[in-house]
Amino acid sequence: MRRPMVAGNWKMHGTRASVAELIEGLANLALPNGVDVAVFPSNLHISLVVDCLEGQSIAVGAQNSAHEAGQGALTGEISPTQLADAGCRLVLVGHSERRQIMGESNKVLSRKFAAAQESGLTPVLCIGETLEQRQAGKTLEVVGQQLDSIIEELGIDAFVNAVIAYEPVWAIGTGLTASPEQAQEVHAAIRAQLAEENSEVAQGVRLLYGGSVKAANAVELFGMPDIDGGLIGGASLNADEFGAIVRAAGN
Ligand code: 13P
Repeated sequence: MRRPMVAGNWKMHGTRASVAELIEGLANLALPNGVDVAVFPSNLHISLVVDCLEGQSIAVGAQNSAHEAGQGALTGEISPTQLADAGCRLVLVGHSERRQIMGESNKVLSRKFAAAQESGLTPVLCIGETLEQRQAGKTLEVVGQQLDSIIEELGIDAFVNAVIAYEPVWAIGTGLTASPEQAQEVHAAIRAQLAEENSEVAQGVRLLYGGSVKAANAVELFGMPDIDGGLIGGASLNADEFGAIVRAAGN
């Protein structure tokens, strides 16, 4: 039985004041016991969030990390070891905004994935197709290639301690959500692809859905057999809405 997970990706949002307010809201939520909850603040706010959530069951993660595990001469980057030292437990790898806007390739992402694990962090690998690719009938091919590049470089065992988030690019921040059936189709394909290598690993890995998840659509999405929770953008910036999404995963 996979334990559901709901994670909030705060992206490039927040000031010290608004982050403090959001954390206070989160700390006051009555969250169900059976769900893993995580938040991904900007790097600037990680220490603040870690300190304020001390004693709470909410994990903290980073939105990106360097492709090298150790410290070194790499101006502007943050190593996953430093993130772990700061209290992070997870890190997003390959969010579509980084693939598309920052030009991160599958090759560099497999290094980031490996460096994160080497540092004791759990990578949350984000994969998903663009609208153009979906309309061309290439969804499963695109997502399959993104997943395959990690399996080829690092092997299937890399997914023993990892999370995968399927985030169709056309559903991110657009208000368009994949239907539960559309999301389930892709999640089932991801799990089947992993199962070709190792069925035990495939059954154990948590597959989150991301893309305009709100309290209003979370129950239906999380009710699908291969959807184990969500990676939430905009709606995670509101503590009450985020709390309602977490409770939906606990049902
Ligand atoms: P939205 O929930 O704002 O669509 O963002 C999803 C996302 O990109 C989470 O990583």
